[in-house]
Amino acid sequence: MTAVDDPVLVVDFGAQYARLIARRVREAHVYSEIVPPTMPVAEMLARRPRGIILSGGPKSVYETPAPSIDPAIYDAGVPVLGICYGAQLLTAQLGGEVSRTGRGEYGRTALSVTGPSPLFVDWPESAEVWMSHGDAITAAPAGFSATASSPDAPVAALHDAERRIFGVQFHPEVVHTDRGADLLERFLYGVCGIAPGWTHVSIIEQQVAAVRAQVGQERVLCALSGGVDSAVAAALVHKAVGDQLSCVFVDTGLMRAGEGAQVEETFRRQFHIDLVHVKAADRFFAALGGVTDPERKRKIIGELFIRIFEEVAQDMGAGGGDGPRFLVQGTLYPDVIESGGGVAGEAANIKSHHNVGGLPEDLDFELVEPLRLLFKDEVRAVGEELGLPHEIVWRQPFPGPGLAVRIVGEVTPERTEILRAADAVVVEEIRRAGLYRELWQSFAVLPAVRTVGVMGDGRTYAYPVVIRAVTSDDAMTADWARLPYDLVERIASRIINEVDGVNRVALDVTSKPPGTIEWE
Ligand code: XMP
Repeated sequence: MTAVDDPVLVVDFGAQYARLIARRVREAHVYSEIVPPTMPVAEMLARRPRGIILSGGPKSVYETPAPSIDPAIYDAGVPVLGICYGAQLLTAQLGGEVSRTGRGEYGRTALSVTGPSPLFVDWPESAEVWMSHGDAITAAPAGFSATASSPDAPVAALHDAERRIFGVQFHPEVVHTDRGADLLERFLYGVCGIAPGWTHVSIIEQQVAAVRAQVGQERVLCALSGGVDSAVAAALVHKAVGDQLSCVFVDTGLMRAGEGAQVEETFRRQFHIDLVHVKAADRFFAALGGVTDPERKRKIIGELFIRIFEEVAQDMGAGGGDGPRFLVQGTLYPDVIESGGGVAGEAANIKSHHNVGGLPEDLDFELVEPLRLLFKDEVRAVGEELGLPHEIVWRQPFPGPGLAVRIVGEVTPERTEILRAADAVVVEEIRRAGLYRELWQSFAVLPAVRTVGVMGDGRTYAYPVVIRAVTSDDAMTADWARLPYDLVERIASRIINEVDGVNRVALDVTSKPPGTIEWE
């Protein structure tokens, strides 16, 4: 079985490339970790890697300084696969030739397999692959065979079978590459000799063991938000330590329709978890009275959340006595990579104000982070495996400050009710149209202005609601979703008919940039 202590290392020469490769390796049920090229080779080898993949990247080996790696890696006896930039780098370092041909290849390209390779088993003579390169490998290093070419890449694949070093100019991790997944599997299973053992079940077993080892008999506290990460983290920790876990759900009054009830139903009734449900809407609305500035809203909500969480934690005797000493965090692997942190195990004992998401400032917890090694898609799969409802597992992202950042203007209970009802219509119709999972986010926004309308015999003077729906991979950029017109019409007429206080519906057709996904 693949264990987390003998990973495939993906050396990061370009973050987006490395991430995609690491995910594809895991989809092949092999555990992978991303490491920077500056990590000393001794440190890489201390991780006992079963294989090393050098990722693609935006640079040229001719740039100075070009990102590089200690060539000692090629003599370590660990199989290496270089992809795109990684292939060019190993070629240049091992004495082959990389040239600036002046003719790059971008996008779909026909690849001709010219020689036998353990990576090209049963390939057609010509396959479609995804290329993205300016420079090209023009001569393989001594001891290597060239095994494929394309119109502008004379050496599009090469290997030294004895040293188990491979390079491909194209991107097997991209779905547009025919047989790309097969190529990666040939490398992982055939060349590296790894048995595929990284499955949702094994992830759960490993994390359950790790959580038990970390917390022993002590009590653990977890803040539930209604979102997928905290829900999966809580379910996993509960599987590990059962009754030692207590959860806190602070209902700010700014949640989506049905969210509080769903958390109750799932965690209290289905999982029998000790759940403190704090109904704090009044306190949040009181604190938000008269406030229109978006940043002030966020700050007020964050601070009040912390105060309430602290009150609950203190009631439980946390921070001393026999109260919880451990706090669960739903940190995911991309956050770990971004913050430059390692994954090598020892639990961070840090003050919780280092963390996002509004947690107590001066309660000194030790963090339990059972999702720290996982990508989002793995978190979802684990959530399903643990029996969490689809609705939670596949829920679209929702900002911490909730509906408050979707009301442009003062947040009042009346406006929040209107927005929540309109949002429920948007979500219901999007789900019914089968688009919910495809969209990154889809929701309603309430600009607190009033416009004139006419309904029946009379004039109306009421709020508009804006439909915001976007596609995105990571929320850094987003495109407005081209929703079918009949769906837009259905949403609009239902909102106007069913939600009192709304007399107009608009559609936001702004991408990010220049817009943000949220309105505030
Ligand atoms: P923007 O609006 O900046 O949002 O394009 C990018 C993504 O982040 C989410 N978002 C937040 N999430 N706390 C959160 O936990 C916040 O304060 C917050 N603000 C925005 C937003 O929903 C989108 O997915």
